Amino acid sequence: MAENRKKFDKKGAGNMDEIAKTLFAPIYPMIAQNIIDRFGITEGICIDLGSGPASLAIAVAAQSDLEVIALDFSDHMHEAASRNIADAGLSGRIRLLRGDVHDIPLADDTADLIISRGSMFFWDDVHRAFREIYRVLKPDGRTYIGGGFGNRELRDSISAEMIRRNPDWKEFNRKNISPENVARFRTVLEEIGVPSFDIIHGDEGFWIVIAKTTGGALP
Ligand SMILES: C[S@@+](CC[C@H](N)C(=O)[O-])C[C@H]1O[C@@H](n2cnc3c(N)ncnc32)[C@H](O)[C@@H]1O
Repeated sequence: MAENRKKFDKKGAGNMDEIAKTLFAPIYPMIAQNIIDRFGITEGICIDLGSGPASLAIAVAAQSDLEVIALDFSDHMHEAASRNIADAGLSGRIRLLRGDVHDIPLADDTADLIISRGSMFFWDDVHRAFREIYRVLKPDGRTYIGGGFGNRELRDSISAEMIRRNPDWKEFNRKNISPENVARFRTVLEEIGVPSFDIIHGDEGFWIVIAKTTGGALP
């Protein structure tokens, strides 16, 4: 756990904030659009897990009437997020919540929509994290949790630039979106007994869509 947290220290948060505002900037409105088009959920409560500088939370709030809770365990990420939310004029619609996905500090059946981009690849115990996600999702709620760049054009151009900047990123990204990793997450969801889920694996990325069928936690 400590090793993972170190990646999101002051320097890591500064780097993420910088890239989110530059190279990655076009992906967040695209991903937000994909989410809204897919589910048609435009009001209620949305939680963005591992929200980082809050770029996706901001894009979703800007394109809907959702109230967004931006949860992250890194104070440094929240410092950047707080500035970005204020700059976007969305302080009244996005609430920062310090917390860990393994122990989400929210009541059962809280969220209409749970989103997360680029965070689950860092979670230590995905069984526990997805149990928590299921618990805080409302009946009839949906999740869109995973990683990606929104569409094929953005994925191809941004991946090429990321590899140019850091050749190691190619292998990191390949592993995250590999069929083996998709199969690993599918097995986790089956093992914890999630009754209804889909996995999107294509140009828009690798995303886990859970449709909650009952109230409360998994048995
Ligand atoms: C690569 S960044 C992605 C940030 C943002 N979602 C984006 O796409 O711009 C991963 C984020 O997940 C957060 N994170 C990782 N593990 C977490 C955990 N167990 N609980 C809460 N946040 C976590 C990190 O602090 C970091 O902000």
